[in-house]
Amino acid sequence: MLQEIGQTGVQGSRIALGCMRMAAIDLAQAEQVIGTAMAQGMTFFDHADIYGGGESEKRFGEAVKNLGLAREDMILQSKCGIQQGYFDFSKEHILQSVDGILERLGTDYLDFLVLHRPDVLVEPEEVAEAFTQLKGSGKVKYFGVSNQNRYQIELLQAYLEEPLAVNQMQLSPAHTPMFDAGLNVNMKNSAAIDRDNGIVEYSRLHKMTIQAWSPFQIDLGKGLFVGHPDYQLLNETIAKYASQYGVSDEAIVIAWILRHPANMQAIVGSMNPKRLKRIAAAEHIHLTRPEWYDIYRSAGNSLP
Ligand SMILES: NC(=O)c1ccc[n+]([C@@H]2O[C@H](COP(=O)([O-])OP(=O)(O)OC[C@H]3O[C@@H](n4cnc5c(N)ncnc54)[C@H](OP(=O)(O)O)[C@@H]3O)[C@@H](O)[C@H]2O)c1
Repeated sequence: MLQEIGQTGVQGSRIALGCMRMAAIDLAQAEQVIGTAMAQGMTFFDHADIYGGGESEKRFGEAVKNLGLAREDMILQSKCGIQQGYFDFSKEHILQSVDGILERLGTDYLDFLVLHRPDVLVEPEEVAEAFTQLKGSGKVKYFGVSNQNRYQIELLQAYLEEPLAVNQMQLSPAHTPMFDAGLNVNMKNSAAIDRDNGIVEYSRLHKMTIQAWSPFQIDLGKGLFVGHPDYQLLNETIAKYASQYGVSDEAIVIAWILRHPANMQAIVGSMNPKRLKRIAAAEHIHLTRPEWYDIYRSAGNSLP
């Protein structure tokens, strides 16, 4: 299933394959993973220059070449801006990063370039110059950000010639700060803390696509909620709906993300072809409101 990405007119798959873990598999496995993703309609691929120290992009590029896939049948996105011990949105770094990305992926253009994590020392004029140059040379078609709040986006946007298309944010049933604050407005509990300046509503108003990363994880670095003892009720609830709909638990998790009316993309990171096939079934599931909230509450969230 396809959806428009931002306001670009580009139709991207609602389930995208994140290639962060591709350096950990060999070339033959990467070919299988990419081939399976394509066959399942997951034609949008997310990369970053730092994944596997560049090895993930390289493996992907080699695998795509071996598979003989046509460039125009895929949408390729990569990210830059993370350096060893700091973040770097300087013009020089952005331009250099894109050259490295294109070489490793074996392509002459990116569909989307995303700034990976906010750089406190950002000079928006420099970012704008870099983007204009990249667009003009044909190296990048569209741009986006990741892990940014509303005002960080607005600051950049004030200097850019066209709207930012995407914002990549962590979201899973066990990681929901983007929803918690909106559900707890004006309450004194910690769920009420607004950690992103209302990014979901902002993204909907400005037609930016939220790309939900790590849909099966708890917080960054805390691992999977799948099978985790602290998330027993969540896992049971997901299993209940999986059995009801006749799909896998994985499909219910992704269906929960796709059910949100903001038209988010889910960026899944599995390097297991069988799991990818199970995940793909999510596109055919439309959870009801009670089911969606049941999963949300099962993760330990309470409603006011
Ligand atoms: N913008 C950012 O700051 C940022 C940060 C992190 C990630 N990302 C993007 O998000 C993508 C996805 O991240 P992720 O890999 O952490 O996402 P994920 O889909 O939540 O996790 C996938 C990992 O969990 C494993 N896994 C084990 N059991 C599983 C189960 N029952 N269901 C699903 N997965 C299971 C998978 O193993 P198998 O391979 O064996 O299936 C794989 O290693 C990355 O590739 C990257 O593109 C972006």
